Amino acid sequence: MSFPLYRARRLRRTPQLRALVRETSVRMNHLIYPIFVDETIDEIASIPEMPGQNRVPLGTVDEEIRHLVNTGVRAFLIFGIPNNKDEVASGAYSTQGVVQLALKRIRGSLGNEALLATDVCLCEYTDNGHCGIMQDGVISNDSTLEILAKIAVSHANAGADIVAPSAMMDGQVKTIREVLDQSGLTETAIMAYSAKHTSSFYAPFRGAAQSFPHFGGRESHQMDFHNPNEAMREIRMDIEEGADIVMIKPALGYLDIIHRASQMFDVPIAAYNVSGEYAMVKVAAERKILDERSTVHEILSAIRRAGAGVVITYHARDMAQWLNER
Ligand code: PBG
Repeated sequence: MSFPLYRARRLRRTPQLRALVRETSVRMNHLIYPIFVDETIDEIASIPEMPGQNRVPLGTVDEEIRHLVNTGVRAFLIFGIPNNKDEVASGAYSTQGVVQLALKRIRGSLGNEALLATDVCLCEYTDNGHCGIMQDGVISNDSTLEILAKIAVSHANAGADIVAPSAMMDGQVKTIREVLDQSGLTETAIMAYSAKHTSSFYAPFRGAAQSFPHFGGRESHQMDFHNPNEAMREIRMDIEEGADIVMIKPALGYLDIIHRASQMFDVPIAAYNVSGEYAMVKVAAERKILDERSTVHEILSAIRRAGAGVVITYHARDMAQWLNER
């Protein structure tokens, strides 16, 4: 069917026609909003590296979540900033840890109104900023697994719906699934950071979460971004180990990985639209170089179109507002 029989512009004529034939959409039920709960502050504190985002004190986290739920945000990914850091990240799995207390507080006042996921890693809780237990200058995979399992169980016991292991240790999904099941936590889902790449785009997050490694980098465990086949292998392994949702991170430079994974696997795919990707848009919008609302809509649509069912994004807060205004 070629011109003049087929005229593509016919279906672009009115907003209603364009909406009728639209193939993908972005709705709040697809989005997870990351939130930083900070035990060291009493007042909400803005994050300079991530304009528009805040660190929230533990004491008022339930009020903050209530407000966000009322505007339409439904799902949250909780990160904690603890009072104390040590060699073994004990603050990460303590029943009195910042994330555990936050979960209890939010569940206590919101019940099941909010979907609560937690990041399961050590880097915010170790005094050296690393994602695992150091032995002779390297991260010990298998001793870190034990800690990750303890963290996951403590989060699940405190009320997490989903635990999201992000340390990129081999075997982390299997270990966590087994220990959750042995603890009777069979209904807690695992969203695995499966293809988490070594990326410059995490820098604003590390400022916000105070999790910069004090020496070295994260290349020994995070993926090399040159390797799409390896990404598929990581994702396949996590599915075999029991992941309910697999994640690709970052999102924007990785749409090819998202697309390939969505064609290859039949589990829900999540994409993490990370702090650096957020910061680029916010700074350009502040300088009026980009229109924020339309740019964000285009970016989130592209991630969904690539094949992500779930998008983790700092833009979720603004998206809720914009969708309400429509
Ligand atoms: C690890 C973790 C990181 C991010 C999410 N979980 C930081 C890292 O790997 O250094 C980055 C998220 C972002 O940049 O938005 N706990």
